[in-house]
Amino acid sequence: MSTLTSFTFAETDLDAIAAHEGRVAVFVDGEGKLDQSARRVNRLTKGALARLVESDKWAKMKEGDIVSLGYPAGMKADGLDVIRLERAAKSILARKAGAALAKARGGKGDLLVLCALIRRAEEIVFGLAMRDYAFEPHKSADSTRSGAVKVVHNKPADLEAACAPLLAVADGAHMCRDLTNEPANVLTTTNYAERLKEMESLGLKVEVLDEDALTTLGMRTLLSVGQGSDSPSYVVAMRWDGGEKDAAPLALVGKGVVFDTGGISLKPGAGMEDMTMDMGGSAVVAGVMRTLALRGAKANVVGIVGIVENMPSGKATRPGDVVTTMKGDTVENINTDAEGRLVLCDVMWYAQEKYKPTAMIDLATLTGAIIIGLGHENAGVFSNNTSFCNDFLKAAEAEGEGAWRMPLGAGYDAQLKSRIADMKNVGGRPAGAITAAQFLQRFVKEDCPWIHLDIAGVASVKSETALAPVGATGWGVASLNRLIADNYEAE
Ligand code: BES
Ligand code: MN
Ligand code: ZN
Repeated sequence: MSTLTSFTFAETDLDAIAAHEGRVAVFVDGEGKLDQSARRVNRLTKGALARLVESDKWAKMKEGDIVSLGYPAGMKADGLDVIRLERAAKSILARKAGAALAKARGGKGDLLVLCALIRRAEEIVFGLAMRDYAFEPHKSADSTRSGAVKVVHNKPADLEAACAPLLAVADGAHMCRDLTNEPANVLTTTNYAERLKEMESLGLKVEVLDEDALTTLGMRTLLSVGQGSDSPSYVVAMRWDGGEKDAAPLALVGKGVVFDTGGISLKPGAGMEDMTMDMGGSAVVAGVMRTLALRGAKANVVGIVGIVENMPSGKATRPGDVVTTMKGDTVENINTDAEGRLVLCDVMWYAQEKYKPTAMIDLATLTGAIIIGLGHENAGVFSNNTSFCNDFLKAAEAEGEGAWRMPLGAGYDAQLKSRIADMKNVGGRPAGAITAAQFLQRFVKEDCPWIHLDIAGVASVKSETALAPVGATGWGVASLNRLIADNYEAE
């Protein structure tokens, strides 16, 4: 597992600046006012900083932008990073600045961050921790990341305390990315279940249900997706009971298809390798549970994930097969590539029957159609409860994670009508992301506030985002953590 950057916090020591080996970062506001540390850097470099701040280049820079100077004269450092940032910068911009520093460091060397007077310096640290990530377990030799970050601030102890819960979020997001980036021959269904079981060491209660247990529970639809694979299917439930004793939990449900070939309705070959990320929804759930445990959240939350592999074989489900869900409704499988909803419907039903949650959120890389609709900027948000939905949208906005509400309605639901069973698993080409959500809603009890997040476009991307390099983003860990912190935790 990739480890989080290590941070230490200290008060200003001007004389240590010249001697620091690695990189040094200073912050200058829009007016070009130099703080005490920046003045020392300016003196050491014989006025380089002042010249930069008076330049046209600086005038054109936006808040959070960075200029890196190599091998600055008068200093032992390899690089000097100058960031334009107001002392009272908004958190999103402070995060952007932190991310720019992580990029400049490139995972190697010691970084000294001189942000003595920045009011929300913890957001710089968060941005740095989030962006300081690379997935390297399968790279040999010299790719090992190293070095540490020392943050200099006027109130180092307060800053360290403010950083703790944010670093728990970054840690959870990194775990989510590790799982989502991992290829399917390594992250097999069994390996995945084992990795989740290991989170018991953090104080989570983790229950692994194997195929015998799932058969007893009647999760036939989930099992029908995994039956073509040589790897067994699992459901894993992770509980964090940090809230009031015996109070009903919030339920998070995740799609964990470790690889999606499409099954007998085989996908085209080009780009199929991307389907290693088809367990991205479940990885967000795992990442949130890790975050809650690391920061000791005062809330009751259960995360339940369905782990399967969708493969074609002589034992695989055929198009046209009819299966009975745990709920008891029958489904005609028109297209074995519409497998995610078949996994989720049983896990969602189980979540409600077993845990009687106050509300439920499912996450899934569910449809290509949501990518056509929203691209890679926003996840699709579907809900049966506007106030619950708005709470989530507010949390996502605050975290800078794109989320856009989509409609539901009886007309869309009608597209799922089957000639021979209670429903089909696909509703045709029009509104493919919505009919997938309609399918799921059939497994949501009337009085259960529910949100479905279709993260097919945002879970893993081909160009870097604000706080993540190319690949798995960890989208959703921060938003769900904030939703929980703001709405489910008493002081
Ligand atoms: N895992 C895919 C959706 C997906 C597509 C995720 C691209 C990430 C990137 C899902 O299981 C799927 O195959 N959906 C089909 C549904 C169709 C057969 C109704 C799709 O979107 O094409
Ligand atoms: Mn599929
Ligand atoms: Zn899939």
